[in-house]
Amino acid sequence: MNIAVFCSGNGSNFQAIVDGRKKGLFKADIVLMVCDNPKAYAIKRAEAAGIRPLVIALKDFPAKKDYEARIIAELRKERVDLICLAGYMKLVSADFVKIFKERIINIHPAILPAFKGAHGIKDAFDYGAKITGVTVHFVDADMDAGPIILQESLKIEESDTEDMLARKIHKIEHILYPQAIKLFTEGRLEIIGRKVRIRT
Ligand code: GRF
Repeated sequence: MNIAVFCSGNGSNFQAIVDGRKKGLFKADIVLMVCDNPKAYAIKRAEAAGIRPLVIALKDFPAKKDYEARIIAELRKERVDLICLAGYMKLVSADFVKIFKERIINIHPAILPAFKGAHGIKDAFDYGAKITGVTVHFVDADMDAGPIILQESLKIEESDTEDMLARKIHKIEHILYPQAIKLFTEGRLEIIGRKVRIRT
């Protein structure tokens, strides 16, 4: 099985996936790292790991569908079976989701459906939530909305700053995402409507 990881920034989740693969947590090969930001640190991580980075900027294409067509061509060339969005700051289109139906997953730094969007950690913190966490879910055409694979919760302590909370969240993410990938690669995830059944 071949995996592509999509990033836009730091790429710490990408790194956790690479490390999980190295440790033998799952058997799939990470064949491509797609990045829409030429300044992203994730590119350096890919180079260090010997994974091909595809750096591609939306502004270089006439429309989003052309940008995605180029990505789709690369994913097909690399025979990608699973796409892991890991801090990828663009919405994938409904057509893209259709092509890779039930083969795109995402990590979100909150307990969905709460605190959707680009600032899940800050939003939960500012809201004064007492509990937040991490969600790994299948991607459908709506933002942060597909069937949930794994979730882990975390208490927000009164002594937490937003930075402290972010560090705790990332620590959970780096364990949860490779675990979700392991379940996918082992064929243990069954989508039934909104629900994901994990086969034992
Ligand atoms: C993570 O918090 C992830 O949940 C969110 O974006 C952040 C990406 O961080 N979607 P990194 O680039 O993996 O370090």
